[in-house]
Amino acid sequence: MSHIASSPPEGAAADWTVPQDWQAYTAAEHAMWDHLFERQSKMLPGRAVDEFINGLDVLRMSKPGIPDFAELSDRLMKATGWQVVAVPGLVPDRVFFEHLANRRFVAGRFIRTPEQLDYLEEPDIFHDVFGHVPLLANPVFADYMQAYGEGGLRADGLGAINRLARLYWYTVEFGLIRQGDRLKLYGAGIVSSHGESIFALNDPSPNRLGFDLKRLMRTPYRIDDYQQTYFVIDSFEDLLKQTVETDFAPLYHELEGAPDHAITTVLPQDAVFTQGTQAYANAKARA
Ligand SMILES: [Fe+2]
Repeated sequence: MSHIASSPPEGAAADWTVPQDWQAYTAAEHAMWDHLFERQSKMLPGRAVDEFINGLDVLRMSKPGIPDFAELSDRLMKATGWQVVAVPGLVPDRVFFEHLANRRFVAGRFIRTPEQLDYLEEPDIFHDVFGHVPLLANPVFADYMQAYGEGGLRADGLGAINRLARLYWYTVEFGLIRQGDRLKLYGAGIVSSHGESIFALNDPSPNRLGFDLKRLMRTPYRIDDYQQTYFVIDSFEDLLKQTVETDFAPLYHELEGAPDHAITTVLPQDAVFTQGTQAYANAKARA
């Protein structure tokens, strides 16, 4: 989600989609996918939420390597009515929301190079597909993503996209969930990152706080490094319910002009799972 050119680039359709052109991937690109897939699917059981682990099966295609979106969409369509469509890069917010509201997930086509193994500036196909698609096979999460897209279209008209973007960031991208008495990963930005899959659960640096919609909308986030605060949901059902039942217009209105919380702040009313030391971020800031 980002502000970029307002009309689709040459070769893209009016809705910004492009053919995936699966035939064009090289053997090295398929091998990169397989390497990343194996590395993450080995380390995530016990760390990622069960719904994500179960959803990984949807990515096990009839041929190895990068998933063919046509085959992937067939499977996803049967599970939850979602499709995966290719786009040339970042798309305008409205285009993004419109696709989500229609149960289409937009994914980049390119895959990282060996030099970019653990750090990427723009999401690649591994982030987009491995990170996001498994949970789209879960009916409740699938409904949440559609509700988010619909909320985005409304927020656009209310000048509140930046508020709503924080909800996406702290849930879809970097969310944690409580499962039994343990915290588990579900955010795509975490599960697609080897380093953050460990950091988000095990490192003493970040805060881990209970999900609170209004609070989270006042909390900025990091785009350049691991998060300094993570929010923990109780269940996907609860997340969906809050998103569907909250009347966002008065909430945006209430938040107008409200100052942001510092990214590291722990408030008296927060449900605190971990009060982070912030040692990691502080060391980086000094470096
Ligand atoms: Fe993402």
